Amino acid sequence: WPFFAPYIKAINELKAQRGAVILAHNYQTPEIFHGVADFVGDSLQLARMAAKADADIIVQCGVHFMAETSKLLSPEKTVLIPDSRAGCSLAASITGADVRLLKQRYPGVPVVTYVNSSADVKAETDICCTSSNAVQVVESLGVDRVIFLPDEYLGKYVQTQTKVRLILWKGHCEVHERFTGAELRAYREADPSIQIIAHPECPPDVLAEADFTGSTAHMIDWVKTRRPARVVMVTECSMADNVAAESPGVTFVRPCNLCPHMKRITLPKILDSLVNMREEVLIDPAIAERARLPIERMINLRN
Ligand code: 13P
Ligand code: SF4
Repeated sequence: WPFFAPYIKAINELKAQRGAVILAHNYQTPEIFHGVADFVGDSLQLARMAAKADADIIVQCGVHFMAETSKLLSPEKTVLIPDSRAGCSLAASITGADVRLLKQRYPGVPVVTYVNSSADVKAETDICCTSSNAVQVVESLGVDRVIFLPDEYLGKYVQTQTKVRLILWKGHCEVHERFTGAELRAYREADPSIQIIAHPECPPDVLAEADFTGSTAHMIDWVKTRRPARVVMVTECSMADNVAAESPGVTFVRPCNLCPHMKRITLPKILDSLVNMREEVLIDPAIAERARLPIERMINLRN
């Protein structure tokens, strides 16, 4: 990567000088994922890493809710995000006030919230989940009904895996909702041996076509273990670039849907973040105190 090399060198040097650690989500571009990240993973792995990272500074290369999660779990650390405008359509779909209304409507029903949500919403939550542990989290509560927020499609998928009844919200991921069952059927018709693996934020007609459904980390593991000849990863498309670099012999057939929020994070902005120590993620302490609990409950669940 000749264009990226000076940035990668400068970032890695400054990171060491500052005692910073860079956490990057699986959707970051290869020059970030392979070039500067100290740790990469799905939302659950990044949250676990933030909780135990041995560094004073965390640079979160992901979207804002991921940086907030890191700050909630490591309040004593400086958490930086290279562009605080990196949002998420799911997190934007619901507010703390919405959750308070739902709790009034369904008194006593516990609230399970996907980590793709703001600290305000987490503050109204009993326990968080990610796409890799949602079924386990829902079942851990030992109840027959939960309010499951805010991803309707993840909720519908979880509903196929558990007897616990889920009350859903109509939040959607703007990237995964664009895939269709028809486009996947067309891939399958063109090559019946093709493997289709999908993220559970996809609509039900898409998941109906999938050979495997799982979080970004579970999808990566699936490809690395199964080594299919041809695979469609039905998720944000930088992930296929990252996995392709480590999976010789596997052909990735892909519709390319990019997450515009994840793509706000770039090498120049990461460098700027380390040079100028910005943008620092700060959370109102009164909200942080309540928002931390549901994430800790999730992290402390036994695997
Ligand atoms: P994962 O937890 O599976 O990495 O998903 C996060 C996300 O934002 C998917 O769009
Ligand atoms: Fe949010 Fe979707 Fe982007 Fe993930 S891919 S951060 S769920 S908008």
